[in-house]
Amino acid sequence: MMFASYQYFQAFLILSFLLPIFSNAHPCSESFQQETAKKGIVNCKKKTLGAEFGWKYSNYTRKLEILFGAKIDGEVGWLAWGLNPGKEPQMVGTRALIGIKLENSTLSDKYNITRYTKLGCQLLPSEIDLEVHNFSFSQGEATEFYMIHATLVLSSEYNDSSLNIVWQVGNAADGNRPITHPMNIHNFDSKETIDLIYGTVLSVETHKLHRLRKIHGILNIMGWGTLLPLGAIIARYFKKFPFQYPNWFCLHVSCQSLGYTLGTCGWILGMWLGNASNHSTFPTHRTLGIIIFTFTTLQMLALRLKPLRSDDYRVYWNMYHHFLGYSLFAIISVNIFLGISILSTRDHTWKWAYIGLLCLLGLTALLLEIFTWIKFWYIKNKEFFAKLLLLCLSNSNQAQGSTSGSKTVPQPDSCPCLASTSQPNADDEYENVVIKAEVLPVESEIEVGILS
Ligand code: HEM
Ligand code: HEM
Repeated sequence: MMFASYQYFQAFLILSFLLPIFSNAHPCSESFQQETAKKGIVNCKKKTLGAEFGWKYSNYTRKLEILFGAKIDGEVGWLAWGLNPGKEPQMVGTRALIGIKLENSTLSDKYNITRYTKLGCQLLPSEIDLEVHNFSFSQGEATEFYMIHATLVLSSEYNDSSLNIVWQVGNAADGNRPITHPMNIHNFDSKETIDLIYGTVLSVETHKLHRLRKIHGILNIMGWGTLLPLGAIIARYFKKFPFQYPNWFCLHVSCQSLGYTLGTCGWILGMWLGNASNHSTFPTHRTLGIIIFTFTTLQMLALRLKPLRSDDYRVYWNMYHHFLGYSLFAIISVNIFLGISILSTRDHTWKWAYIGLLCLLGLTALLLEIFTWIKFWYIKNKEFFAKLLLLCLSNSNQAQGSTSGSKTVPQPDSCPCLASTSQPNADDEYENVVIKAEVLPVESEIEVGILS
């Protein structure tokens, strides 16, 4: 019953994380919409690289008016928007309109992007086979964005119900020569196929990939990054010492098995994504991912094959299991930060959300650890004082017994802790007291809490 309610709670958590990802609304920002409204442009969508794209199309005249804007952070940078008449949206073959921001001025021109550009040859302005009118590049009034505004007349070469558009933002230029853009995942995703008449995006690929990457991140953060450490915390602090919680095992097993399942799904999705996006690979993230999956699987299997408590090498097995477990938690956090840096370069929400989660888990573990040691120290000392008390009591009883015949009053310094070494059989008495103290329940608690 209790197990089922945990599962419902976990399913609710997962759904509340995933639902916003499936929503497909990407309307433009208010300030950009003010700019499009001034030009009578009604269609507007947010794009990758923090860009926004507004367009108006007439299928009678085949005139396409576009307003494409994005931030250029540095003193120098460029913004490109273009059409590719080829079969798919890609950089090579694109006829581009490029606006360049220089230190004290701006430039705008037309460029043909060829495979030589990709190989590193200089990108210079050239004539393009597109009719372009009113082409301008300027900074917006209502927004910080730099914007390319133009009206194109589409020739029959361009299919208006399946048009390949490509865009890019770069941060270096040499006069009218734009210099290579950054090569991260969003710079590879800046292309799509749209239906101008209905205003829909046909190439679901980029959007789908983007959503799957977010799902991959969430599954990994929840699986490896949250549930596994939580399961470990429960096992360490709630098994017997400092707290004895009767349902700890049920909670521990659900955390570990759900964490491992979610993490494994996230890992498989990551491997698939890595193979699906043919432009980019992230070798460090991939290698750490494979290490995490392999060794976590080993840890899970090892629990079945662990030696018995009575086995001599059980203590070494414990050391190995704990060392590997803690090392894995460290590698998992590093890989999560790596994944976040691949996924979101501009927006820091993921990073801060994960830092918050890490602090919460770390702080909980730290407080419980401090509490454990305080309780341990207290119990250890309590036992020490209990031994002393028992010794004192037994010695004074003995003194009373031995002197009762002669009616002597017991001496206060008859306690061995107060240096009365002349007491008969003091050593034997001490042995007895130690044995008594060892059978106290606190002794077993200490052993379980600290060694297991
Ligand atoms: C300034 C000169 C440029 C250089 C040297 C350059 C170089 C490159 C290189 C080396 C790649 C990686 C290709 C791969 O791994 O397959 C790439 C990808 C890409 N570039 Fe550029 N690029 C330049 C300008 C542009 C411009 C102006 C645009 C937009 C109109 C653009 C859009 C893209 C896109 C969308 C990709 C993703 C992969 C693809 O579609 O082929 N690039 N670029
Ligand atoms: C410990 C947790 C994680 C593991 C084990 C893991 C594993 C992987 C693996 C194996 C790949 C394939 C890499 C390649 O073939 O190049 C991958 C790709 C990727 N991961 Fe992760 N990952 C983790 C966490 C994250 C997180 C938290 C995020 C983001 C929030 C993330 C974002 C990405 C992205 C964007 C890719 C590239 C996908 C693509 O190429 O299209 N990862 N991950």
